Amino acid sequence: MTAQGYRPNQMYEIKAPGGNVFTPPEGRCWSTIEERFKQLLSDGRIFFGMNNNSQPNIIRYLSEVEGHVPWTWWPHDEVGHTDESKKEMHGLFGKIDSFDTPKPERLIKRVLEIATNTGDLVLDSFAGSGTTGAVAHKMGRRWIMVELGEHCHTHIIPRLKKVIDGADPGGITKFTNWKGGGGFRYYRLAPSLLEKDKWGNWIISKDYNPAMLAEALCKLEGFTYAPSDTVYWQQGRSTESDFIYVTTQTLGPEQLQALSDEVGRERSLLILCSAFRGQPDAWPNLTVKKIPKAVLAKCEWGHDDYSLNVENLPRAPEAPKPMGQLAMDMDGGDA
Ligand SMILES: C[S@@+](CC[C@H](N)C(=O)[O-])C[C@H]1O[C@@H](n2cnc3c(N)ncnc32)[C@H](O)[C@@H]1O
Repeated sequence: MTAQGYRPNQMYEIKAPGGNVFTPPEGRCWSTIEERFKQLLSDGRIFFGMNNNSQPNIIRYLSEVEGHVPWTWWPHDEVGHTDESKKEMHGLFGKIDSFDTPKPERLIKRVLEIATNTGDLVLDSFAGSGTTGAVAHKMGRRWIMVELGEHCHTHIIPRLKKVIDGADPGGITKFTNWKGGGGFRYYRLAPSLLEKDKWGNWIISKDYNPAMLAEALCKLEGFTYAPSDTVYWQQGRSTESDFIYVTTQTLGPEQLQALSDEVGRERSLLILCSAFRGQPDAWPNLTVKKIPKAVLAKCEWGHDDYSLNVENLPRAPEAPKPMGQLAMDMDGGDA
């Protein structure tokens, strides 16, 4: 019987037919009061184990239990097997193009039935062939998949497009009566913004051109990237009067003075540069930071967790009926 914390009227002795006497485990109580227990006993609803002398359990019938009760034994006629999953792969990608250990869609369906509800967000951070996302999509869950390998383009994207177009008849399509619909966005991870030079100092990656650098730092600093066509130091803004300027130059006092004069009293400017000379406090409308230091301050470099503390992640416009949200931006733009 399942104990539910301590309740005085659920503390009593139970004698098994074989003679053993049971009391609730230390610090716990029985799940039901004695009167109800006696009723269950006389109804033949108490199981004392195969030897009739073990700790009592209430017998529950399937019809009394809501939904599926997770069970450790998952037979292949219910959740599929490797051969089934290989056939699913062949149906999607052709015979030559197979993964070593694909999972049948029915297996993932069982997992998602147990762990999620319609509309929940399912994360598979090692997407492989995209089975989890495909099943989540067909089950009306939202999803995020992450994949480093090239099969993101050769397998996952084509697979999810088929699911959305209603052109994937395999897997759980029939079980879920899936007809197609929904969509996804795709984001490509940008290269690392910083790298170490041969002396072990952090420097800005050479993969970054000035526009990419400005956009990345706007994100990190919480600014909207909006480069002005006419004012070179207005690369982004946080308010109508607060701007950001990113440059790989070293700025001296003359340049900082000139910038301060242009910004004027009514506006403020955050400057991210490789280095600067002079005392930044001298210009109250300017905040001057060095790029590697400013970026490192936002990261967890050197710790166990390398997560970047970026809070203004890209957001998609409201979609009428979002079903799946992977990592897709159909033009494949860098995020
Ligand atoms: C065994 S597969 C995953 C299978 C899939 N989740 C499933 O249940 O069928 C592992 C995948 O993780 C990808 N991978 C490995 N390291 C990764 C990383 N750091 N970030 C994203 N994907 C990664 C591999 O390319 C491979 O496709």
